[in-house]
Amino acid sequence: MNLTIATLVRLLLKTAFTITIIFNSINVLQAQVVNVSLRPSEAQHVIDKNIYGHFAEHLGTCIYGGFYVGDTSTLVPHSEGVRNDVIEALKKLKVPVLRWPGGCFADTYHWKDGVGPREKRPTIVNRWWGGVTEDNSFGTHDFLNMCEKIGAQPYLAGNVGSGTVQELIDWVQYVNFEGVSPMSKWRKENGRDKPWDVSYWGVGNEAWGCGGNMTPEYYANEYRKYATFMTDWSNSDKMFRIASGANSGDLKWTEVLMRDIPHHMLEGVALHHYAVIDWAKKGPSIDFTEAHYAATMKSALKMEELVTKHSAIMDKYDPKKRVALVVDEWGGWYEGDPGTNPGFLQQQNTMRDAMIAGVTLNIFNNHADRVRMANLAQTINVLQAVILTNKEKILLTPTFHVMEMYNVHQDATMIPLDFASPTYIAGKDTMNAVSVSASKNKAGVTHISLVNIDPSNAREINIGIDGLSVKSVKGRILSSARLQDHNSFQQPEKVKPATYNGASLKGKQINLKIAPASVVVLELR
Ligand code: AHR
Repeated sequence: MNLTIATLVRLLLKTAFTITIIFNSINVLQAQVVNVSLRPSEAQHVIDKNIYGHFAEHLGTCIYGGFYVGDTSTLVPHSEGVRNDVIEALKKLKVPVLRWPGGCFADTYHWKDGVGPREKRPTIVNRWWGGVTEDNSFGTHDFLNMCEKIGAQPYLAGNVGSGTVQELIDWVQYVNFEGVSPMSKWRKENGRDKPWDVSYWGVGNEAWGCGGNMTPEYYANEYRKYATFMTDWSNSDKMFRIASGANSGDLKWTEVLMRDIPHHMLEGVALHHYAVIDWAKKGPSIDFTEAHYAATMKSALKMEELVTKHSAIMDKYDPKKRVALVVDEWGGWYEGDPGTNPGFLQQQNTMRDAMIAGVTLNIFNNHADRVRMANLAQTINVLQAVILTNKEKILLTPTFHVMEMYNVHQDATMIPLDFASPTYIAGKDTMNAVSVSASKNKAGVTHISLVNIDPSNAREINIGIDGLSVKSVKGRILSSARLQDHNSFQQPEKVKPATYNGASLKGKQINLKIAPASVVVLELR
């Protein structure tokens, strides 16, 4: 062989280049191993079960056709007009709290129109959502009795935008007063003897927008006036008043509320944030691209920054963390499904939504010191729904399954943890690929929920469990071949949780590999 010096140099350079590539690839693979360390000795904050709350607005077919078919319906089995299949599904979810009647609708709702004999109730035009005329057949008794059936605590959103202080305090008296009063008398005449004892009350909704386009200073004054007259009518301190909160990153709103409202009349401050690509071009709910997916996830992951920043402001005015941050609207928001009324906000629910739910609930769990309630928007047929109905048919969405898998965290103590997430890169968008939270319940069982939002790369995860005595690990997984996979009325069980045997316990470490775009919940005993 006749090698010239130049050829030899070229060959050496090529070999060196190949070796560098191999080493780099090994480094990348090594970097993909995620080391998570749990810090059980520092666990102190309970994950309020109300973080797993839901929201039901008079919007599209959430109430009428979703929850409620009417007490004379022959379409499906029901209890006083509320679908039995819905009640069963929501019991399985362990829904702790349910917000009603809105949303924007709340600030146009006059509760007195929805009690008493149905045939005498006036109609209302739902000006926010599709302009449809509603007959008020689903009212206060229907909602509160339904909550009892589901086992959820009610959260009533009062009308501040177009209502009066008197109207709201009459509502409180109507549902909560045991003694003799005009409102309790009327309640009894309408068939309910015992009060329902409602603790959670929203003082308006989105006061900066559909609730009245107020400034924070003006709203803070309004709030003070309303809150002054609100009592639970039983000389207890059960009243939990929630101020209408900021729109996403509007930190000034939270600052003014925390500064201007005396804290003895404020139990919670709300925050709304939706995972949306672009309000002007929200993209489809099923046939989305990876770029759509990445943009949605980026928006969903922003919740971490929002909760951190709003909490920091609250810490400044309330270092003892007495006032709760209540994220009473969150979820993915896309274009309405083709053929549906755009005002009904009806969208399908895919594995993308499962990813949103998984990462968002992990964020809330990890901020359990301040976030003490959250309400996914919305329960049935609207936005990121957990249930879809179509006449007599019903299906549970991927989001339902995530919320059901995660309900093990309800009222368990959050375990702080550390890890550096690898990055999910999609075009110009980069973000954390892995999300984790952990808790230990009263029976001593630890649960770890993990999400890998990267649709192409599996991740190897090592979890250090020093300080925990663990003898066994098992788990469940929600995964599907495509991000766009969803449950339809033709295939209602395409996406559902499965047993997960991929985690192994080795001394003080748990090792697992989490598939692309999947959610895993581990149980350690
Ligand atoms: O959830 C749908 C709507 O979104 C609510 O009515 C409103 O509060 C928010 O803007």
